[in-house]
Amino acid sequence: MNTKRKIYIFDTTLRDGEQCPGASMTPEEKVQVAKQLERLSVDIIEAGFPASSPGEVQAIQRISKNVKKPILCGLARMVKPDIDAAREALRYAKRKRIHVFLATSQIHREYKLKKGKAELIEIAKKNITYARKFFSDIEFSPEDASRTEPEYLVEIVKAAIDAGATAVNIPDTVGYAIPHEFGELIQYLVKEIPVLGKTVTLSVHCHNDLGLAVSNSLAAIANGANQVECTINGIGERAGNASMEEIVMALHTRQDTFNAYTDITLKEIIKASRLISHITGMNVQPNKAIVGKNAFRHEAGIHQDGILKKRQTYEIMDPKTIGLSGTQLVMGKHSGRHAFRERLKKLGFDLTDEQLAKAFKRFKNLADKKKNVFDEDLEAIVEDEIIRIPVTWQLVSMGIHVETGKPVKATIGIKKQNKVFKAVSSGDGPVDACYKAIESITKQKMKLIDYSIQSVTWGKDALGEVNIKVSSKNEEISARGTSTDIIEASVKAYLKALNKIVVRTKKKDTKKQCVL
Ligand code: KIV
Ligand code: ZN
Repeated sequence: MNTKRKIYIFDTTLRDGEQCPGASMTPEEKVQVAKQLERLSVDIIEAGFPASSPGEVQAIQRISKNVKKPILCGLARMVKPDIDAAREALRYAKRKRIHVFLATSQIHREYKLKKGKAELIEIAKKNITYARKFFSDIEFSPEDASRTEPEYLVEIVKAAIDAGATAVNIPDTVGYAIPHEFGELIQYLVKEIPVLGKTVTLSVHCHNDLGLAVSNSLAAIANGANQVECTINGIGERAGNASMEEIVMALHTRQDTFNAYTDITLKEIIKASRLISHITGMNVQPNKAIVGKNAFRHEAGIHQDGILKKRQTYEIMDPKTIGLSGTQLVMGKHSGRHAFRERLKKLGFDLTDEQLAKAFKRFKNLADKKKNVFDEDLEAIVEDEIIRIPVTWQLVSMGIHVETGKPVKATIGIKKQNKVFKAVSSGDGPVDACYKAIESITKQKMKLIDYSIQSVTWGKDALGEVNIKVSSKNEEISARGTSTDIIEASVKAYLKALNKIVVRTKKKDTKKQCVL
């Protein structure tokens, strides 16, 4: 029997998340996000704030037609038109919830609402009673709960439950709470209203103004909350909301202390994070827990050595769990010989001790000059300095012809053993045209799978570096070309890849002959 408590994941990326500056989404994008949230298996999607605009109502209707598994929720103030807008927005939803909120703290009562305690209780009762006509699932949030007098909080929450609320959400609206304090508040509410966390869902909604949103959410779970409101990548008003991936992975990794689980499909986490980042244009900071690009990267030599001996020495989570391909050992100036040898092995180079020592010295020199040492750099060290890739094909001449409305044409001259070959080809842009011309000469088929340009020096005459990855007969080859002309750099990289293939093919042929 599973004695663990289920924690419901209420995702508000499409409501509170979308509220953060610069994160507004088109209806199509909202549908795309909602579908990914469904793949993540979130329990509830807060799809928006219907009263905010007619477009929002339509967007939620579109989500309702595309997403069936999770409960869809719409936010409403405690006024009839908002409840009606939520009703309209959710009319096609298979499973639906309305989320009504009303501020309860003294500062909000006095300055924002200009209403007294008793009057607010009456407003809550009246509107929940009205919402009940259309919804059987009603969530009530006393806004700014963490700054509300706890006794008054109990009073208004009890009134809301009596009126028909099926879930109560305790928001730390301004991110003011401190974990032990917030945990105590939740404990107090459970003691005073024992149905909370049992027949009535007890939710928390924490903001990150002090960077404590996740800690506060976890403190609440430890004290009886059974739902958390959160967003992908922690986006949301101001400093954001509690980040879903952090809460979910904390519960997963520390089951020993929480004795709780979520139904989240962990493998979908990284896709969800990237989708949100792509749609909102908000980059995830590299050191962000779980989904930051450095979260599973190791550079220190001691750590890399430990990881290679046993991953768990320096990793508490397996990156594959969240949908990443694996741990990354970043090659840089802090890397040690062990990691260097292993990485070279992965790239297909098995060097003698002497060759390894030479290559490692070159690598350390390079790492002092360059922040990131990529696979291509390592290949270049080994192939240029140790193995020395012979130049079979070499660039002799190139010309690009551009005419408006016509495909770009490239004329390429390359030589092999002093014989020059020329070809003209057109393509989708100058690089494509050049690559096609080369292919027509060499008859060597290569599929371009990665292409990137970066400038290696500054100014108008900056040196451009083109890195490519091609595949040929199930093998991947990376190569690099540099020039002040990026088309020429691209051609040089392509010819380098070609020359590597020639070497590899020769090696294989020799092996075959030996076997025969
Ligand atoms: O932060 C907040 O208080 C909210 C409520 C609407 C739940 O977003
Ligand atoms: Zn909020």
